Amino acid sequence: MALFRTLSAPEPLPPITGDGVVLRAPQMSDYAAWAGLRESSRKFLTPWEPTWPADDLTRPAFRQRLRRYAEDVRTDQAYPFFLFRSEDGALVGGLALANIRRGVAQAGSLGYWVGAPYIRRGYMTAAVRALIPVAFDLLRLHRLEAACIPTNLASVRLLEKTGFRREGYARSYLCINGIWQDHLLYAKLQSDPRD
Ligand SMILES: CC(C)(COP(=O)(O)OP(=O)(O)OC[C@H]1O[C@@H](n2cnc3c(N)ncnc32)[C@H](O)[C@@H]1OP(=O)(O)O)[C@@H](O)C(=O)NCCC(=O)NCCS
Repeated sequence: MALFRTLSAPEPLPPITGDGVVLRAPQMSDYAAWAGLRESSRKFLTPWEPTWPADDLTRPAFRQRLRRYAEDVRTDQAYPFFLFRSEDGALVGGLALANIRRGVAQAGSLGYWVGAPYIRRGYMTAAVRALIPVAFDLLRLHRLEAACIPTNLASVRLLEKTGFRREGYARSYLCINGIWQDHLLYAKLQSDPRD
């Protein structure tokens, strides 16, 4: 596995700087900002996400979430980030490279969210643009995948403007908001043009 990475062993990635944003690994001190933003964005986010567990926004669940994240990084399965606005350090959302498959695939899946007060200001575009070289050049992925519900116009636009290509349509692909929903499948390859 190490053959495919420049890092000698899976470890937390250093903060990543993008245009007006910083991505870094979530930490316990983010709890209050994270829980506040998720709660105030609940109505906006829940139609596009897996069902939130009842205790999702509690401090113990957040601690457990961080443990899971650390284990995911340690085992090279996923790299989660919180997204901050550079100018004032406000937490604006999160994104993750998840479901990493090594061996002959060298692939991973991209997921993301932005809190309702911060949408449509280019933050996720900047974050995805910053993460792409990390995925391909540092983590040595060959293929970055993403999937979204066809009516998620924000996600469709985000993927297309960051150079993902639509490759297919998967029926009943993921259980989102409690319903198995069809998804558009997108991917970007290491060899695709970078913008
Ligand atoms: C998808 C999401 C992360 C986009 O984040 P964002 O920071 O608002 O995105 P950006 O501001 O970088 O905008 C990206 C593009 O999408 C467009 N866009 C954003 N919201 C849109 C909407 N509701 N309808 C149509 N286009 C939209 C923007 O205008 C921009 O395109 P443009 O530059 O051509 O104008 C955010 O809308 C979100 O968190 N949605 C809910 C959760 C979700 O959908 N997660 C992903 C599941 S697949």
